[in-house]
Amino acid sequence: MKTIDVVDGPQNVSRILLGCMRMPDLSIAEAANILNVACEQGINFFDNAVCYGLGEAERRFGDALALTDINREDIVVQTKCGIHSERGEFDWSKENILACVDDSLSRMKLQYLDVLLLHRPDLLFDPCEVAETFEILEKSGKVRYFGMSNVTPGQLELLRKYVKQPLVFNQLQLSLDQTQLLDPGLYLNNLATERSIDRDNGVLDYCRLHDIVVQAWSPLQFGTFEGCFIDHPDYPELNAALGELAEKHGVSKSAIAIAWILRHPAKMQAVVGTMNPERLKSVCAASDVELTRHEWYQLYLASGKFLP
Ligand SMILES: NC(=O)c1ccc[n+]([C@@H]2O[C@H](COP(=O)([O-])OP(=O)(O)OC[C@H]3O[C@@H](n4cnc5c(N)ncnc54)[C@H](OP(=O)(O)O)[C@@H]3O)[C@@H](O)[C@H]2O)c1
Repeated sequence: MKTIDVVDGPQNVSRILLGCMRMPDLSIAEAANILNVACEQGINFFDNAVCYGLGEAERRFGDALALTDINREDIVVQTKCGIHSERGEFDWSKENILACVDDSLSRMKLQYLDVLLLHRPDLLFDPCEVAETFEILEKSGKVRYFGMSNVTPGQLELLRKYVKQPLVFNQLQLSLDQTQLLDPGLYLNNLATERSIDRDNGVLDYCRLHDIVVQAWSPLQFGTFEGCFIDHPDYPELNAALGELAEKHGVSKSAIAIAWILRHPAKMQAVVGTMNPERLKSVCAASDVELTRHEWYQLYLASGKFLP
């Protein structure tokens, strides 16, 4: 498994993370098995969130981890808070973040979180309050590293003005179908396509400039995690291109789709979500595939884009 050293963040972390959003569908034994399979494949980074199954994903992760021989110090556990599903709103207040961290630690049966991300912007967030909260969390030893998810460069700038701790991750949507993170860099200034619209103010370039590692969420999904495009009848051209490269490289189509994300020089991480052990193994083979520039563009074009 390829790894990266995150600047001012955790070192030697796997390029592929296992996301636990779908873990509530598993029994505790099945969840323990998927954690073991992940570790055997070289994954040492696990993503979770307070809102996944309203805490159930964190609880399942904690119960499952206790059934394994995985050494706590050998893995990076990340969770996210700030989406308040029950109230149908976003909440980055000090009171909510501190309570969420305590609840997450208790559900996952952990003494500390390696990484805390704020999940999706609270329009009412106060950067001074976030700074004060992160200070408390770091000083108490409850959180080692901090980051964000789904935030713009402007929001990162604002936070970085006040927050003392480096913000080392930004978790964002990216898949071969959902390429809006990349498209404006190619189609800029082009009235012929909506892909020229910069929907996030150049967040990818901003993150690269500031050593913020992008974690690509739902890397095999179309829409807002509406379904997997692998072998989906609505994606014949993409599947044909994935199939051709899968055969050439001796891996699965899903591995090629993940290799496409890993090939980008931003050295992003891919947060995969399969809860199927065999699929997880096949996805992890992506780490051994280095796509050529031509293959990368071949896939981008097969996903429905054109050269301007
Ligand atoms: N920050 C955010 O806002 C945000 C939003 C969404 C997700 N996330 C994170 O991203 C993680 C991954 O999201 P995701 O689960 O949507 O990711 P994904 O890896 O793109 O999709 C996995 C899903 O596709 C299915 N699938 C069907 N065919 C597959 C194949 N050939 N290979 C692999 N999977 C296949 C899987 O089913 P099986 O389980 O049956 O294989 C599973 O339901 C989440 O767990 C979460 O940690 C973050």
